[in-house]
Amino acid sequence: MQLQPVLDVLNARAPFVPELAIVLGSGLGSLAESAEAHAGVSIPFTELPGFPQQSVIGHSGKLVFCELEGRQVLLQAGRFHFYEGHPLDIVTAPMRLYGRLGLKVVLHTNAAGAINPAFQVGELMAISDHINFTGTNPLIGPNVPPGPRFHDMTEAYDKALLQQLHTAAKALGQTLQEGAYIGVTGPCYESPAEIRAFSRMGADAVGMSTVPEVIVARHEGLRVAGISCLCNMGAGLLPVALTHEDVLAAGATAAVAFEGLVRKFVRDLKL
Ligand code: HPA
Repeated sequence: MQLQPVLDVLNARAPFVPELAIVLGSGLGSLAESAEAHAGVSIPFTELPGFPQQSVIGHSGKLVFCELEGRQVLLQAGRFHFYEGHPLDIVTAPMRLYGRLGLKVVLHTNAAGAINPAFQVGELMAISDHINFTGTNPLIGPNVPPGPRFHDMTEAYDKALLQQLHTAAKALGQTLQEGAYIGVTGPCYESPAEIRAFSRMGADAVGMSTVPEVIVARHEGLRVAGISCLCNMGAGLLPVALTHEDVLAAGATAAVAFEGLVRKFVRDLKL
């Protein structure tokens, strides 16, 4: 995908270089509907050259440049998933763009299934690390300069930002779990045997996004933080089948805590 035509649009319309980008995962988009977002500059994905015109779920998302808690931020409402059939350079294009626009930090959010039995549905988890179990890698192919061919993933999720998430949660009296997120392609949910296997591999939560984007964000030199909303227990951990509707409903219930945590994190952000 050609980045320059998109960068030209963003450079022409962006009112500022945001301090951070916040990727709003499925069911966590309430911030993009806030008063602040309405007062900002909103650019639908459909106005970005090369971006898919419509996603499978029927709406394609937008980028909103706005002030949130006194900080200049970029809200990304909606993302492209690999399971929708988009190539990984499209899935990860926002990260390339943020790097090239001069952003330094990106906060990823997603809905995930809990694998760690100590976790409960509706809780939030700060992502401390990930396992790429998608079977591929967005960096396969010619290297995209200026990132190095072989880049370090030792501290993919920035320790100082992780600490700030915990500080924000503590100030709010919220439970914030911490753990490793295993990224899969989906779109089916996992089998119980897969969840048992992922548990033994060291994963605490599982989801169908974020990992390709974080790999590219790190390749762009962005500092990364991540929050998973634990919308269900992984398959087989409870005697119930998983449905997308239940996952969305749990996300909606957690949305208030989620938005509170993100706002506090942004307000107190130390870069
Ligand atoms: N598995 C994969 N992705 C998910 C899940 C899950 O259980 N819940 C929300 N996203």
